[in-house]
Amino acid sequence: MRAIHLIDGHGPEALTLVELPAPVPGPGEVVVRMRAASLNNRDLLLIDGIYAPFRRPFIPLSDGAGEVVATGAGVARVAPGDRVVLSYVTGWVAGGPTDERVARRLGGPDDGVLAELVRARADAVVRVPAGLSDEEAATLPIAGVTAYRALFVDERLAPGQSVAVQGTGGVAAFAILLAKQAGARVIATTRTREKVGRARDLGADEVIALDEHPAWDQRVLELTGGRGADRVIDVAGGRGLDRSIAACRTGGTVHLVGFLDTREASFDLTLAMRRVVTLRAASAGSCEDLEGLVRALASGNLRPPVDQVMPWTEVRAAVARMRERRHVGKIVLRFGAD
Ligand SMILES: NC(=O)c1ccc[n+]([C@@H]2O[C@H](COP(=O)([O-])OP(=O)(O)OC[C@H]3O[C@@H](n4cnc5c(N)ncnc54)[C@H](OP(=O)(O)O)[C@@H]3O)[C@@H](O)[C@H]2O)c1
Repeated sequence: MRAIHLIDGHGPEALTLVELPAPVPGPGEVVVRMRAASLNNRDLLLIDGIYAPFRRPFIPLSDGAGEVVATGAGVARVAPGDRVVLSYVTGWVAGGPTDERVARRLGGPDDGVLAELVRARADAVVRVPAGLSDEEAATLPIAGVTAYRALFVDERLAPGQSVAVQGTGGVAAFAILLAKQAGARVIATTRTREKVGRARDLGADEVIALDEHPAWDQRVLELTGGRGADRVIDVAGGRGLDRSIAACRTGGTVHLVGFLDTREASFDLTLAMRRVVTLRAASAGSCEDLEGLVRALASGNLRPPVDQVMPWTEVRAAVARMRERRHVGKIVLRFGAD
Protein backbone atom coordinates (compact mmCIF):
# COMPACT_ATOMS: atom_id res chain seq x y z
CA MET A 1 0.00 0.00 0.00
CA ARG A 2 1.00 3.60 -0.49
CA ALA A 3 1.44 6.05 2.37
CA ILE A 4 2.97 9.43 3.00
CA HIS A 5 5.89 9.49 5.42
CA LEU A 6 7.09 12.53 7.30
CA ILE A 7 10.82 11.94 6.99
CA ASP A 8 13.76 13.76 8.56
CA GLY A 9 13.82 17.47 7.88
CA HIS A 10 11.16 20.09 8.07
CA GLY A 11 8.56 21.62 5.80
CA PRO A 12 6.41 20.09 3.05
CA GLU A 13 9.49 18.60 1.33
CA ALA A 14 9.69 16.18 4.27
CA LEU A 15 6.38 14.63 3.10
CA THR A 16 7.29 11.66 0.91
CA LEU A 17 5.21 9.03 -0.87
CA VAL A 18 6.38 5.53 0.14
CA GLU A 19 5.33 1.92 -0.40
CA LEU A 20 4.70 -0.04 2.83
CA PRO A 21 3.44 -3.55 3.67
CA ALA A 22 -0.35 -3.73 4.11
CA PRO A 23 -1.25 -3.77 7.83
CA VAL A 24 -2.88 -6.82 9.40
CA PRO A 25 -5.36 -6.38 12.27
CA GLY A 26 -4.39 -7.85 15.65
CA PRO A 27 -6.93 -8.86 18.31
CA GLY A 28 -9.36 -5.98 18.95
CA GLU A 29 -8.17 -4.10 15.87
CA VAL A 30 -9.53 -3.22 12.45
CA VAL A 31 -7.96 -2.22 9.16
CA VAL A 32 -9.60 0.73 7.41
CA ARG A 33 -9.27 1.59 3.73
CA MET A 34 -9.01 5.36 3.92
CA ARG A 35 -11.32 7.44 1.80
CA ALA A 36 -10.72 10.93 3.17
CA ALA A 37 -8.49 12.79 5.62
CA SER A 38 -8.41 16.37 6.81
CA LEU A 39 -5.73 18.81 7.86
CA ASN A 40 -5.38 20.49 11.23
CA ASN A 41 -3.09 23.22 12.46
CA ARG A 42 -1.32 20.50 14.46
CA ASP A 43 -0.19 18.89 11.21
CA LEU A 44 1.49 22.13 10.15
CA LEU A 45 3.30 22.34 13.50
CA LEU A 46 4.50 18.75 13.17
CA ILE A 47 5.59 19.18 9.56
CA ASP A 48 7.49 22.33 10.53
CA GLY A 49 9.18 20.52 13.42
CA ILE A 50 7.67 22.95 15.96
CA TYR A 51 5.79 20.25 17.85
CA ALA A 52 7.47 17.51 19.87
CA PRO A 53 10.15 15.69 17.89
CA PHE A 54 8.41 12.36 17.42
CA ARG A 55 10.32 9.49 15.86
CA ARG A 56 10.82 9.86 12.12
CA PRO A 57 9.67 8.64 9.73
CA PHE A 58 6.02 8.40 10.66
CA ILE A 59 2.71 8.67 8.85
CA PRO A 60 1.21 12.13 9.51
CA LEU A 61 -2.35 13.47 9.81
CA SER A 62 -4.82 12.69 12.56
CA ASP A 63 -8.26 13.00 10.99
CA GLY A 64 -9.60 10.37 8.64
CA ALA A 65 -12.55 8.27 7.57
CA GLY A 66 -12.89 5.17 5.43
CA GLU A 67 -14.23 1.65 5.15
CA VAL A 68 -13.44 -1.29 7.41
CA VAL A 69 -11.84 -4.00 5.27
CA ALA A 70 -10.63 -6.44 7.94
CA THR A 71 -11.25 -7.12 11.62
CA GLY A 72 -9.11 -8.95 14.18
CA ALA A 73 -10.18 -11.48 16.78
CA GLY A 74 -12.84 -10.32 19.22
CA VAL A 75 -14.11 -7.37 17.19
CA ALA A 76 -17.91 -7.13 17.29
CA ARG A 77 -18.36 -3.37 17.24
CA VAL A 78 -17.84 -2.96 13.49
CA ALA A 79 -17.64 -5.29 10.49
CA PRO A 80 -16.04 -5.23 7.04
CA GLY A 81 -17.99 -2.84 4.82
CA ASP A 82 -18.82 -0.40 7.62
CA ARG A 83 -17.92 3.21 7.00
CA VAL A 84 -16.09 4.63 10.01
CA VAL A 85 -14.33 7.73 11.26
CA LEU A 86 -11.21 7.23 13.40
CA SER A 87 -10.98 8.77 16.85
CA TYR A 88 -7.82 10.89 17.23
CA VAL A 89 -6.88 10.24 20.90
CA THR A 90 -6.97 6.49 20.53
CA GLY A 91 -6.69 5.45 24.19
CA TRP A 92 -9.43 7.83 25.32
CA VAL A 93 -12.58 5.78 24.97
CA ALA A 94 -14.88 7.66 27.36
CA GLY A 95 -14.90 9.83 30.48
CA GLY A 96 -12.52 12.63 31.37
CA PRO A 97 -8.88 13.04 30.32
CA THR A 98 -6.10 11.23 32.21
CA ASP A 99 -2.38 10.95 31.42
CA GLU A 100 -2.87 7.39 30.28
CA ARG A 101 -5.90 8.14 28.08
CA VAL A 102 -4.39 11.08 26.22
CA ALA A 103 -0.96 9.57 25.57
CA ARG A 104 -1.72 7.91 22.22
CA ARG A 105 -2.66 10.07 19.26
CA LEU A 106 -2.99 9.36 15.57
CA GLY A 107 -0.62 11.39 13.43
CA GLY A 108 2.07 11.75 16.14
CA PRO A 109 3.28 10.07 18.22
CA ASP A 110 1.51 7.14 16.54
CA ASP A 111 1.26 6.66 12.79
CA GLY A 112 -1.61 8.66 11.31
CA VAL A 113 -4.10 8.36 8.51
CA LEU A 114 -2.26 9.48 5.38
CA ALA A 115 -2.06 5.92 4.09
CA GLU A 116 -4.29 3.78 1.90
CA LEU A 117 -4.76 1.30 4.75
CA VAL A 118 -4.72 2.15 8.46
CA ARG A 119 -4.74 -0.24 11.43
CA ALA A 120 -6.82 1.09 14.33
CA ARG A 121 -8.25 -0.01 17.66
CA ALA A 122 -11.83 -1.16 17.14
CA ASP A 123 -12.92 0.83 20.21
CA ALA A 124 -11.47 3.97 18.62
CA VAL A 125 -13.64 4.09 15.50
CA VAL A 126 -17.19 5.35 15.10
CA ARG A 127 -19.69 4.30 12.43
CA VAL A 128 -20.55 7.04 9.94
CA PRO A 129 -24.26 7.46 9.27
CA ALA A 130 -25.53 7.47 5.68
CA GLY A 131 -26.19 11.22 5.78
CA LEU A 132 -22.50 12.09 6.15
CA SER A 133 -20.05 11.78 3.24
CA ASP A 134 -16.54 10.41 3.74
CA GLU A 135 -15.11 13.89 3.24
CA GLU A 136 -17.44 15.33 5.86
CA ALA A 137 -16.73 12.52 8.33
CA ALA A 138 -12.99 13.13 7.96
CA THR A 139 -13.36 16.67 9.36
CA LEU A 140 -14.68 15.54 12.74
CA PRO A 141 -11.99 14.01 15.01
CA ILE A 142 -9.96 17.06 16.03
CA ALA A 143 -11.73 20.29 15.03
CA GLY A 144 -15.27 18.97 15.35
CA VAL A 145 -14.71 17.13 18.61
CA THR A 146 -12.81 20.06 20.15
CA ALA A 147 -15.69 22.45 19.44
CA TYR A 148 -18.27 19.87 20.56
CA ARG A 149 -16.45 19.11 23.78
CA ALA A 150 -15.96 22.77 24.70
CA LEU A 151 -19.60 23.65 24.03
CA PHE A 152 -21.38 20.61 25.41
CA VAL A 153 -19.11 18.36 27.48
CA ASP A 154 -16.86 20.73 29.42
CA GLU A 155 -19.89 22.90 30.08
CA ARG A 156 -23.35 22.42 28.59
CA LEU A 157 -24.49 25.27 26.35
CA ALA A 158 -28.09 26.31 26.98
CA PRO A 159 -30.52 27.63 24.36
CA GLY A 160 -30.57 31.41 24.35
CA GLN A 161 -27.00 31.76 25.58
CA SER A 162 -24.54 33.72 23.47
CA VAL A 163 -21.25 32.42 22.08
CA ALA A 164 -18.49 34.58 20.62
CA VAL A 165 -16.22 32.67 18.25
CA GLN A 166 -12.84 33.86 17.00
CA GLY A 167 -12.19 33.32 13.29
CA THR A 168 -13.65 30.90 10.77
CA GLY A 169 -11.08 28.09 10.75
CA GLY A 170 -11.77 24.44 11.49
CA VAL A 171 -12.62 24.61 15.20
CA ALA A 172 -14.37 27.96 14.84
CA ALA A 173 -16.56 26.81 11.94
CA PHE A 174 -17.71 23.80 13.96
CA ALA A 175 -18.32 26.01 16.99
CA ILE A 176 -20.52 28.35 14.94
CA LEU A 177 -22.45 25.45 13.42
CA LEU A 178 -23.00 23.53 16.66
CA ALA A 179 -23.75 26.54 18.86
CA LYS A 180 -26.36 27.77 16.41
CA GLN A 181 -27.94 24.33 16.24
CA ALA A 182 -28.16 24.31 20.04
CA GLY A 183 -30.20 27.51 20.00
CA ALA A 184 -27.46 29.93 21.01
CA ARG A 185 -26.91 33.39 19.61
CA VAL A 186 -23.61 33.23 17.74
CA ILE A 187 -21.25 36.15 17.24
CA ALA A 188 -18.28 35.38 14.99
CA THR A 189 -15.22 37.51 14.34
CA THR A 190 -13.11 37.41 11.21
CA ARG A 191 -9.91 39.06 10.09
CA THR A 192 -10.95 38.46 6.50
CA ARG A 193 -13.81 40.50 5.08
CA GLU A 194 -14.53 37.99 2.29
CA LYS A 195 -15.39 35.41 4.96
CA VAL A 196 -18.21 37.44 6.54
CA GLY A 197 -20.89 35.89 4.30
CA ARG A 198 -19.52 32.39 4.81
CA ALA A 199 -19.60 32.79 8.58
CA ARG A 200 -23.24 33.83 8.28
CA ASP A 201 -23.94 30.80 6.09
CA LEU A 202 -22.54 28.58 8.85
CA GLY A 203 -25.04 30.08 11.27
CA ALA A 204 -23.46 33.19 12.78
CA ASP A 205 -26.12 35.73 13.77
CA GLU A 206 -23.58 38.54 13.82
CA VAL A 207 -20.16 38.71 12.20
CA ILE A 208 -17.61 41.24 13.37
CA ALA A 209 -15.11 42.17 10.65
CA LEU A 210 -11.93 42.94 12.54
CA ASP A 211 -10.74 45.57 10.06
CA GLU A 212 -13.87 47.52 10.91
CA HIS A 213 -13.92 46.70 14.63
CA PRO A 214 -10.40 45.90 15.83
CA ALA A 215 -11.72 46.33 19.39
CA TRP A 216 -14.04 43.39 18.81
CA ASP A 217 -14.65 42.87 22.52
CA GLN A 218 -16.37 46.26 22.64
CA ARG A 219 -18.53 45.27 19.69
CA VAL A 220 -19.52 42.03 21.46
CA LEU A 221 -20.53 44.09 24.49
CA GLU A 222 -22.63 46.36 22.26
CA LEU A 223 -24.29 43.39 20.59
CA THR A 224 -25.13 41.80 23.95
CA GLY A 225 -26.55 44.94 25.56
CA GLY A 226 -23.38 45.52 27.60
CA ARG A 227 -23.45 42.07 29.20
CA GLY A 228 -20.86 40.14 27.21
CA ALA A 229 -21.05 36.65 25.70
CA ASP A 230 -21.73 33.66 27.92
CA ARG A 231 -18.96 31.71 26.20
CA VAL A 232 -15.97 32.82 24.17
CA ILE A 233 -14.02 30.46 21.91
CA ASP A 234 -10.43 31.78 21.74
CA VAL A 235 -8.27 30.22 19.03
CA ALA A 236 -5.41 32.74 18.93
CA GLY A 237 -4.03 33.12 22.46
CA GLY A 238 -1.26 35.74 22.64
CA ARG A 239 -2.01 39.28 23.74
CA GLY A 240 -5.52 39.04 22.34
CA LEU A 241 -6.68 36.99 25.30
CA ASP A 242 -7.51 40.24 27.08
CA ARG A 243 -10.14 40.93 24.45
CA SER A 244 -11.66 37.48 24.85
CA ILE A 245 -11.90 38.05 28.60
CA ALA A 246 -13.38 41.52 28.07
CA ALA A 247 -15.93 40.08 25.60
CA CYS A 248 -17.06 37.47 28.15
CA ARG A 249 -19.87 38.16 30.57
CA THR A 250 -19.28 38.22 34.31
CA GLY A 251 -19.23 34.59 35.40
CA GLY A 252 -18.83 33.34 31.81
CA THR A 253 -16.22 31.04 30.30
CA VAL A 254 -13.37 31.64 27.87
CA HIS A 255 -12.37 28.41 26.16
CA LEU A 256 -8.64 28.38 25.43
CA VAL A 257 -8.58 26.40 22.20
CA GLY A 258 -5.51 27.52 20.32
CA PHE A 259 -2.45 29.67 19.91
CA LEU A 260 -2.58 30.88 16.32
CA ASP A 261 -1.13 34.18 17.50
CA THR A 262 1.55 33.01 19.98
CA ARG A 263 1.90 30.08 22.35
CA GLU A 264 2.31 32.42 25.28
CA ALA A 265 -0.71 34.40 26.37
CA SER A 266 -0.67 37.34 28.73
CA PHE A 267 -3.69 39.03 30.15
CA ASP A 268 -4.78 41.44 32.82
CA LEU A 269 -5.48 39.37 35.92
CA THR A 270 -7.58 42.14 37.48
CA LEU A 271 -9.89 42.09 34.45
CA ALA A 272 -10.27 38.32 34.70
CA MET A 273 -10.97 38.58 38.43
CA ARG A 274 -13.38 41.48 38.10
CA ARG A 275 -15.30 39.50 35.52
CA VAL A 276 -14.95 36.26 37.51
CA VAL A 277 -14.41 34.43 34.24
CA THR A 278 -13.40 30.80 33.95
CA LEU A 279 -10.44 30.24 31.63
CA ARG A 280 -10.79 26.69 30.46
CA ALA A 281 -8.26 24.80 28.35
CA ALA A 282 -9.99 22.98 25.51
CA SER A 283 -9.04 19.60 24.18
CA ALA A 284 -9.93 17.11 21.52
CA GLY A 285 -11.82 14.28 23.10
CA SER A 286 -12.78 10.68 23.52
CA CYS A 287 -14.38 8.21 21.17
CA GLU A 288 -17.58 8.81 23.15
CA ASP A 289 -17.32 12.54 22.32
CA LEU A 290 -16.86 11.70 18.65
CA GLU A 291 -20.01 9.56 18.81
CA GLY A 292 -21.88 12.42 20.46
CA LEU A 293 -20.77 14.79 17.72
CA VAL A 294 -21.84 12.38 14.98
CA ARG A 295 -25.28 12.09 16.64
CA ALA A 296 -25.60 15.86 16.98
CA LEU A 297 -24.80 16.37 13.30
CA ALA A 298 -27.15 13.62 12.18
CA SER A 299 -30.06 14.77 14.33
CA GLY A 300 -29.68 18.36 13.14
CA ASN A 301 -29.04 17.33 9.55
CA LEU A 302 -25.94 19.50 9.74
CA ARG A 303 -23.24 19.55 7.09
CA PRO A 304 -19.67 19.71 8.45
CA PRO A 305 -17.79 22.70 7.06
CA VAL A 306 -15.73 21.34 4.14
CA ASP A 307 -13.83 24.15 2.41
CA GLN A 308 -11.97 22.28 -0.31
CA VAL A 309 -11.25 18.68 -1.34
CA MET A 310 -7.89 17.74 -2.91
CA PRO A 311 -6.27 14.39 -3.86
CA TRP A 312 -4.36 12.90 -0.92
CA THR A 313 -1.14 12.69 -2.90
CA GLU A 314 -1.27 16.49 -3.19
CA VAL A 315 -0.79 16.92 0.54
CA ARG A 316 2.05 19.40 0.01
CA ALA A 317 -0.27 21.71 -1.91
CA ALA A 318 -2.95 21.25 0.73
CA VAL A 319 -0.47 22.25 3.44
CA ALA A 320 0.41 25.37 1.45
CA ARG A 321 -3.28 26.18 1.08
CA MET A 322 -3.82 25.77 4.83
CA ARG A 323 -0.96 28.17 5.55
CA GLU A 324 -2.64 30.86 3.45
CA ARG A 325 -5.54 30.82 5.95
CA ARG A 326 -8.03 31.59 3.24
CA HIS A 327 -10.06 28.51 4.12
CA VAL A 328 -13.29 28.49 6.08
CA GLY A 329 -13.74 25.23 7.97
CA LYS A 330 -11.70 22.27 6.80
CA ILE A 331 -9.34 21.32 3.99
CA VAL A 332 -9.94 17.69 3.06
CA LEU A 333 -7.86 15.13 1.17
CA ARG A 334 -9.63 12.50 -0.89
CA PHE A 335 -8.21 9.00 -1.44
CA GLY A 336 -8.64 7.11 -4.69
CA ALA A 337 -8.84 10.22 -6.81
CA ASP A 338 -5.26 9.99 -8.12
N1 LIG B 1 -6.86 22.42 22.32
C1 LIG B 1 -6.96 21.51 21.36
O1 LIG B 1 -7.06 20.31 21.59
C2 LIG B 1 -6.99 22.00 19.95
C3 LIG B 1 -7.75 21.32 19.00
C4 LIG B 1 -7.83 21.84 17.72
C5 LIG B 1 -7.12 22.98 17.40
N2 LIG B 1 -6.35 23.59 18.33
C6 LIG B 1 -5.64 24.83 18.03
O2 LIG B 1 -6.64 25.81 17.78
C7 LIG B 1 -6.19 26.74 16.81
C8 LIG B 1 -7.17 26.77 15.65
O3 LIG B 1 -7.12 25.56 14.95
P1 LIG B 1 -7.91 25.39 13.60
O4 LIG B 1 -7.70 23.98 13.17
O5 LIG B 1 -9.29 25.87 13.75
O6 LIG B 1 -7.05 26.38 12.66
P2 LIG B 1 -7.37 26.93 11.23
O7 LIG B 1 -8.41 26.11 10.56
O8 LIG B 1 -6.09 27.09 10.54
O9 LIG B 1 -8.01 28.37 11.55
C9 LIG B 1 -7.33 29.53 11.24
C10 LIG B 1 -8.30 30.71 11.26
O10 LIG B 1 -8.37 31.31 12.56
C11 LIG B 1 -8.53 32.71 12.42
N3 LIG B 1 -7.52 33.42 13.21
C12 LIG B 1 -7.78 34.18 14.29
N4 LIG B 1 -6.69 34.68 14.82
C13 LIG B 1 -5.67 34.25 14.08
C14 LIG B 1 -4.27 34.47 14.14
N5 LIG B 1 -3.72 35.23 15.09
N6 LIG B 1 -3.51 33.89 13.19
C15 LIG B 1 -4.06 33.11 12.23
N7 LIG B 1 -5.40 32.88 12.15
C16 LIG B 1 -6.19 33.45 13.06
C17 LIG B 1 -8.47 33.02 10.94
O11 LIG B 1 -9.83 33.09 10.49
P3 LIG B 1 -10.39 34.46 9.90
O12 LIG B 1 -9.65 34.70 8.61
O13 LIG B 1 -11.83 34.25 9.73
O14 LIG B 1 -10.10 35.50 10.93
C18 LIG B 1 -7.81 31.79 10.33
O15 LIG B 1 -8.20 31.54 9.02
C19 LIG B 1 -4.79 26.29 16.45
O16 LIG B 1 -3.86 26.98 17.25
C20 LIG B 1 -4.78 24.82 16.79
O17 LIG B 1 -3.48 24.33 17.02
C21 LIG B 1 -6.28 23.12 19.60
